[in-house]
Amino acid sequence: MKAQQLFDLTGEVALVTGASSGLGWRFAQTLAAHGASVVLAARRTDKLEALKSAIEADGGEALTVQLDVADYGQIGQAFDAAEREFGTVTILVNNAGMAVSKPAIDMSPQDWRKIMDVNLDGVWFTAQEAARRMSTAGAGGSIINIASLLATRVAKSLSAYAVTKAAVKQLTEALALEWARYNIRVNAIAPGYVLTEINREFFESEAGNAMIGSIPQRRIAEPSDLDGTLLLLASNASSFMTGSTILIDGGQALTLGG
Ligand SMILES: NC(=O)c1ccc[n+]([C@@H]2O[C@H](COP(=O)([O-])OP(=O)(O)OC[C@H]3O[C@@H](n4cnc5c(N)ncnc54)[C@H](OP(=O)(O)O)[C@@H]3O)[C@@H](O)[C@H]2O)c1
Repeated sequence: MKAQQLFDLTGEVALVTGASSGLGWRFAQTLAAHGASVVLAARRTDKLEALKSAIEADGGEALTVQLDVADYGQIGQAFDAAEREFGTVTILVNNAGMAVSKPAIDMSPQDWRKIMDVNLDGVWFTAQEAARRMSTAGAGGSIINIASLLATRVAKSLSAYAVTKAAVKQLTEALALEWARYNIRVNAIAPGYVLTEINREFFESEAGNAMIGSIPQRRIAEPSDLDGTLLLLASNASSFMTGSTILIDGGQALTLGG
């Protein structure tokens, strides 16, 4: 089979959380460019509308839905809207995420709760909603969770973030095991550092520059560095893969030991 056919997503319906910036924005564009109808979900709908226009200008199809993944009640509504417009969601990119960058000793209960609500509960309940609908429709599908290099490593001032990403890796495996029977594959991407709003301030600092120098490939990633892995996991090219977490880090994990 030629690569173009292998990664063709025509007829698929993809919902991307956190599509209003950074990786989510790029994931949505890439899925749409390969034929999927794309549901763009986030809190900032003005940004989503701009992305929808860009996707449509390139010949793609998109719908915007306001979604705060920390608000359980909104998740079902987003899937309802997706179904009304395009049908059952068959690809979920569970990308919405945030970081609280503070020494552990200074983290407030509110800091802890917020990051757990978004990075862990949000991923769990969005995956569950997708899987319920995929199984009811008999559609099967692919769920792609966005973990991190910090799912298996740690960094100072990112303790709670690392805990949530380790949990995302673990839930990827647990859900893959349970949902294979419904023909639902669950995999994760674990990026190293990619320049986006989540870390722009850090990479403009001296410490950020020093970190870039310690990465074997001597750079951080562009969102486009994740295109190939996204398409692999979203498409039938990975039809026998489930429960995997794919690390994309320019070799950084090799320098961190473990
Ligand atoms: N950049 C990196 O180096 C890196 C490395 C490893 C993993 N990651 C992971 O990649 C994912 C995307 O991060 P990014 O780098 O693209 O960061 P970003 O540019 O800050 O984007 C984060 C996205 O998540 C959305 N979001 C945040 N809280 C949300 C909520 N409660 N409900 C719905 N959407 C929410 C934001 O949209 P709204 O504000 O509009 O809701 C935004 O679109 C995250 O899970 C992050 O942990 C990033």
